[in-house]
Amino acid sequence: MKTIEWKNGKVILIDQTMLPLKEVYIETSDYLRVAEAIRVLSVRGAPAIGVAAAYAVALAVAQSSAKSTPELLQEIEEAIKIIGATRPTAVNLFWALERMRKRAHVSSHLAVSRLKRVLKEEADKIAEEELEMSRQMGEYGAGLIEDGDNILTHCNAGSLATVDYGTALAVIRSAHNQGKRIHVYADETRPLLQGARLTTWELMKENIPVTLICDNMAGYFMSLGKIDKVVVGADRIAANGDVANKIGTYSVAVLAKEHDIPFYVAAPISTIDTSLPDGGRIPIEERAPDEVVGFGGNRVATEGIKVANPAFDITPNRLVAGIITDRGVLRPPYDTSISGLFA
Ligand code: MRU
Repeated sequence: MKTIEWKNGKVILIDQTMLPLKEVYIETSDYLRVAEAIRVLSVRGAPAIGVAAAYAVALAVAQSSAKSTPELLQEIEEAIKIIGATRPTAVNLFWALERMRKRAHVSSHLAVSRLKRVLKEEADKIAEEELEMSRQMGEYGAGLIEDGDNILTHCNAGSLATVDYGTALAVIRSAHNQGKRIHVYADETRPLLQGARLTTWELMKENIPVTLICDNMAGYFMSLGKIDKVVVGADRIAANGDVANKIGTYSVAVLAKEHDIPFYVAAPISTIDTSLPDGGRIPIEERAPDEVVGFGGNRVATEGIKVANPAFDITPNRLVAGIITDRGVLRPPYDTSISGLFA
């Protein structure tokens, strides 16, 4: 299953807000619709957001009636501004938009029709590369997983968060495909339940053994010796290896440290932001209070209650046993291993 596809001049996205109850697809040639899909989490997960953003630029360009290349370049800048304002934390969004911008500028000698084609090809390339990176992460990460492991994961870092295959779930998929008998504990991941709704849906489809737990149960299962490893994804990794990921990830990492359980992060290099020295500089998205006071339109909290809703948290590098990338597994000290990747 592909989370995002381009077909006949349209972008097709599975609407993740409806899963697992309904399998509904958004099909659009309007880039603003894709931007809205990113904003409301119809498409979500750092690599998937990046690919959706690249295709949104390609749609903006395809639909443009600009008569000259400078006019088209101006429209691209406007589209990039709108798409870039949808979500602040996942760096893949800005990484993909920057790639599209650069490609447009190095191609500014081309006629409008040719430039349109080039940008669609660039978006395809980003999508293909993300898929390949998922496969590579799976290969590298599976080497860390042993037969019989119980693995805890948080949020959804699977096919749905990428083009296909996943990041954390790529590691799990590859280990499973290698014949390792593994079992996954999926944190439900309040407030939007990406674990309960999406991770369990994906894994059950492939008959990968999975048990759903509430977020506050992870420590108990660790204390019982029922969890051997933690593998999660990332939305942005700073130059020193601090990791932004779904809210609750930091708590899981602290618990893992207490119980001497290796805590791994799986992310493609498009998620590494070497412009930020540490996690303290990563912007954390604050989402609407209605996500916390209830779910699916059903209110559970008292009317008028004050709410905080940060969508991500930062896990300090000292809690991370390894970062599984498409180029191999990075180990501490991360400032050195990360700078080595980009040298
Ligand atoms: O708010 P979301 O659902 O976009 O958050 C997603 C996550 O935090 C994922 O763990 C992360 O993007 C890694 S996905 C491969």
